[in-house]
Amino acid sequence: MCGIVGYTGPRQAAALLLEGLKRLEYRGYDSAGLALVHDGRIEVHKAAGKISVLEQELGTTLPPGHTGIAHTRWATHGAPNTANAHPHTDCGGTLALIHNGIIENAAVLHTALAQRGHVFRSETDTEVLAHLIEEVLAKGGAFVEAVAGGLNQVEGTYGIAVVSTREPDTIVAARKGSPLLVAIGSGENFVASDASAVLAHTRSVVYLDDGEIAVVRPGEYRILDLGTVEKEKAVTRVDWDLATIERGGHAHFMLKEILEQPESLRNTLRGRLLEEEGTARLGGLNVTDEQLLQVNRIVFTACGTSWHAALIGEYMMEELARIPSEVEYASEFRYRNPIVDDRTLVVGISQSGETADTLAALREAKRRGARTLGLVNVVGSTIAREVDGGIYLHAGPEIGVASTKAFTSQIAALAVLTLKMGRLRALSILQGREVVRALAKLPDLVERVLAKAPEVERIAERMMRAGNVLYLGRGYNFPVALEGALKLKEISYIHAEGYPAAEMKHGPIALIDDLMPVVFIAPKDAVYQKVVSNIEEVKARGGRVMAVVTEGDSGVARLADHKIAVPETLDLLTPVLTVLPLQLLAYYIAVRRGCNVDQPRNLAKSVTVE
Ligand code: AGP
Repeated sequence: MCGIVGYTGPRQAAALLLEGLKRLEYRGYDSAGLALVHDGRIEVHKAAGKISVLEQELGTTLPPGHTGIAHTRWATHGAPNTANAHPHTDCGGTLALIHNGIIENAAVLHTALAQRGHVFRSETDTEVLAHLIEEVLAKGGAFVEAVAGGLNQVEGTYGIAVVSTREPDTIVAARKGSPLLVAIGSGENFVASDASAVLAHTRSVVYLDDGEIAVVRPGEYRILDLGTVEKEKAVTRVDWDLATIERGGHAHFMLKEILEQPESLRNTLRGRLLEEEGTARLGGLNVTDEQLLQVNRIVFTACGTSWHAALIGEYMMEELARIPSEVEYASEFRYRNPIVDDRTLVVGISQSGETADTLAALREAKRRGARTLGLVNVVGSTIAREVDGGIYLHAGPEIGVASTKAFTSQIAALAVLTLKMGRLRALSILQGREVVRALAKLPDLVERVLAKAPEVERIAERMMRAGNVLYLGRGYNFPVALEGALKLKEISYIHAEGYPAAEMKHGPIALIDDLMPVVFIAPKDAVYQKVVSNIEEVKARGGRVMAVVTEGDSGVARLADHKIAVPETLDLLTPVLTVLPLQLLAYYIAVRRGCNVDQPRNLAKSVTVE
């Protein structure tokens, strides 16, 4: 996600801002910029690409100014180019603003502001806020009142910092949903997304809470609420080292990203669920409903974890939208002679948006006349730019090589796509509303499962010495068995296999003994009883069973040696919950085995070669 840093004090700001941005690079970004207040003017420099590109643009003599703000952008609205890089200014260039978050009502505000004569220079949601603040300032409002007035008109999430020629030594910062802090120096102060940006200068910070505004000057700061009423806030001393801060206080990025899933799911679903109509709003599909109605077949194509998500998408689409669907390994699809035509919808799923095989498969599909969609996390990535349309996951940067939050966001995005396609066909409004309500509740249910991490950690202790592990599931949870096995093998190096539970009798049951743990995904769904029978078969042969069950389950619980219970939800959404214990299981086993969890041997985060 985006990085924010600001400085005001006796020193030259530019070098301090660039240093702070470099400390925030770990957050993932695709452009950077800064704004300095000097001699009654605001000077903005920004560039697409890495901070080194911005430094080249700045040249060897950094622009002067004792007050400034700087930003690394993780694109959500608008391509990752220079025009869309932050900071953004008002029409007159008398204020500059940087933002982390999503302004949901940006389109409506943009239209109204443009009608009132405001000139926009970017396609970002952020820029509307600069013009809203400009309007309040123009009516004679004080700087902090103007920022509060602008913020009171936007919906969504923000962490912002603003500078203005109106008060040249002041930074106004505000938070709602995106972390922000004030760092207190000696005669100088900073604002930042997290302490890593300022740790070299001070460990004394004030963490802003949602709905709070900070007015920061060289020797003083005030914290206000959105009504600009002052409030007292504690000063915290940051004891973490830099590496720990970058991981949000967690031992590994993978654990941070597992625990981020309530928030990443909220971001994936934000603004896309229409409960009244029982359907979904997808702004980026770039395809009309009439064109979607022409689709008579869907091919999902992906690799690895994304391929597992595709399998779930296939089940969803056939169950709810009644559209013949299939899943292809991208590496296979691209070299076969697949039957694809202009009524085939080919959906590429990719966290990175750069996986070579998936990109090649989508190009092959386009060559054969198919319409292509991309379900991608990285905005502006190659796949995102080459498909006809798509759905951004908005899950935030996924740093750990083992994909976790992207997987659950892919499932949520697939459910939203299925909802839209289904409601164009046989899905009733009542069925649609049921799916919408279940999706809306999902992040809270995820939180309940993640709270059971200590239980999973205890099971991991018992399984960490296994040489082989078998994962079994049926229906929507067969792909979860595959995913659980992939997680374990790619970060702990224990051999693991995922299978449809019924397939066990066709071979794998020969492996069962008391040395090979078997993990069953057995939620109370349409095939629950079948899975119970499979568990009995394993137990009858001396197998040891860990089961993921639905809260209140008694059937499986009496059979399993270990169990983790997850809340009930619709069958098609159970994978979002049942995969969580398996992500944690793989994580804790790998940690105990001393493996490099975030960068497992031989693996890359994005496989950009064949
Ligand atoms: C998953 O944990 C792996 N890192 C890998 O299988 C990954 O899912 C695969 O390489 C696809 O990557 P993509 O989603 O970025 O295309």
